Amino acid sequence: MRTPLVAGNWKMNGSRTMADTLMAGIAAGLTDRPNVDVVVCPPFVLVPQCREQANGTGISVGGQNLGSQESGAFTGEVAADMLLDFGCEYVIVGHSERRTLYGETDEVVAAKARVASEKGLVPIICIGETLEEREGGNTEVVVTRQLSAILEIAGTAIFPQALIAYEPVWAIGTGLTASDAQAQEVHALVREQLAAQDAQAALATRILYGGSVKPDNAAGLFAQADIDGGLIGGASLKAQDFLGIIGAARS
Ligand code: 13P
Repeated sequence: MRTPLVAGNWKMNGSRTMADTLMAGIAAGLTDRPNVDVVVCPPFVLVPQCREQANGTGISVGGQNLGSQESGAFTGEVAADMLLDFGCEYVIVGHSERRTLYGETDEVVAAKARVASEKGLVPIICIGETLEEREGGNTEVVVTRQLSAILEIAGTAIFPQALIAYEPVWAIGTGLTASDAQAQEVHALVREQLAAQDAQAALATRILYGGSVKPDNAAGLFAQADIDGGLIGGASLKAQDFLGIIGAARS
């Protein structure tokens, strides 16, 4: 019912040469068009090149961030319309690195999700707790707070088009992954909270897991009832690893 989605978040990695090789490698492994939506999110400057290379492959392209304003005097920001103009269909919103390193609050993240949705981009909205918050028993409180801001400011109507990515901060880039059961527990909670607003939308909304997903742990995670694919960092930079994860999502 929910088509799995695997998105690669390249973060601040890449070059024209690297993108050329990586996109060609992913495309070469996708010849039989699996029933999985595949998205790459390169740095902004590589979007046009990746978009062009994605033509005819079934791969979609997304931004890693967007400005919450429409246009104007906002130095360094990139607007939703610009991403659309360059063929992006998706945009990552509220990644924990944006939240912690660049001070994006729940309200800013929600405003970005709203603008993205209004403009016709699919936001991949990231939520997740830090290690301290998990160890303090506050995972549910944090995830609920982050999601509530989205529901209040961006509204329930952005779902089921919008995606949620549960990315426990302690699992990002650390090699530590949430166990299948730990991840499923939070995913079920997220779906429950969406269902409290709109049961139909909750059933159709894709909730991705992110945090040290690799080809060898992806199948277990993706087999969970409420895990509908992944948001992949490090392993999305290697075509074979990314393809292995896509393969795990299709089975
Ligand atoms: P890693 O897969 O490198 O842990 O990164 C996850 C992530 O932050 C994806 O957005």
